[in-house]
Amino acid sequence: MRMGRTAMTGNGLDDYLRALVAKDAALAPVAAVMRAVAKAAAETAKQIALGPLGSSHDGGAIPEAGHANAGGDVQKALDLLTDRLFTEALADAPVAVLVSEELDEPKRLNAGAPLVVAIDPLDGSSNIDVNVSVGTIFSILPALPDAADDAAHFMQPGSAQRGAGFVVYGPQTIFILSVGGPTAAFILDPRSHAFALLKEEMAIAPDSHEYAINASNYRHWDPAVRAFIDDAMEGEDGRLSRNHNMRWVASMVADAYRIFTRGGVFLYPGDQRKGYGAGRLRLLYEVSPIAFLVEHAGGKATDGAKRILDIVPTAVHQRCPLVFGSAQVVETIVGYHTDPKLIANRSPLFKARGLMMG
Ligand code: AHG
Ligand code: MN
Ligand code: MN
Repeated sequence: MRMGRTAMTGNGLDDYLRALVAKDAALAPVAAVMRAVAKAAAETAKQIALGPLGSSHDGGAIPEAGHANAGGDVQKALDLLTDRLFTEALADAPVAVLVSEELDEPKRLNAGAPLVVAIDPLDGSSNIDVNVSVGTIFSILPALPDAADDAAHFMQPGSAQRGAGFVVYGPQTIFILSVGGPTAAFILDPRSHAFALLKEEMAIAPDSHEYAINASNYRHWDPAVRAFIDDAMEGEDGRLSRNHNMRWVASMVADAYRIFTRGGVFLYPGDQRKGYGAGRLRLLYEVSPIAFLVEHAGGKATDGAKRILDIVPTAVHQRCPLVFGSAQVVETIVGYHTDPKLIANRSPLFKARGLMMG
């Protein structure tokens, strides 16, 4: 069994990173960032498992810190605790500037260091209170020697990332990462607090019948997204000729890990709600790192029309529509956005008339 074998050979995250650096010394700073993230993630996993018993909680109910972050979300105590844990760990790594979901402005860490990091310290924080998986997502970019200000380091396309990763704090704590090679998975051993290798090369199944979307926003979606979901829901009698299954955890990390494990597609499109024109997810520390990991596992990631990794950011907290997962399904969804034939004759009026006539 894979886990038994890796445990017996002592094949941990540290060995993995050491082997990468032995092959390519230029990876040393990126490896140092991965180690820093692993350290903070192990502590985060411990705090999450403690829940109301831990120091970040207050008498069983998790207090809301009460302030809104740059994206307008109310910060929870665990948002702030994880932000502090990851900031402290990354301050000991070769990171010049840090962008965090929980900080309005970029934070200077180590002047002259070769890398910058963007991080969502706690993804899915609406799920903390209900004991559902949450996570951490991060992106590593090269620091730009001629950057005009701290934010300017981050105005690079996702394809410039030197590495990326996400951690899921679920029944197990899993760390998915890539330094530009295959996307690998590690599992936290709670006995040793070390990450053991789970899978060296994650491969996202090229096709799937499973999709993830917050369907309560149906009426706000654009016609292309509606048409795809309508066709998926029509099952084997519809245009896609197969029955579908739907999952939505509301923690992207958990939906992403499922997709890495058994395929599928995730959509958080832009919609008509105020402030949701570019969806909900943030380009630098949610969309771009997931896209990097997905592509290095054979999947695809798009905003509906453009490849995510080609998008050049213009602001550190900017949002971006996201569709990622099994390559063939992502291509199908891009088709709905680009082929006018697929959304013709689907106006609500047409549907209503069709219903009345039936
Ligand atoms: P965060 O907790 O960092 O703000 O991110 C939550 C994100 C993502 O994880 C999830 O898929 C999505 O928001 C859920 O959005 P809805 O509540 O709109 O479904
Ligand atoms: Mn998030
Ligand atoms: Mn968050």
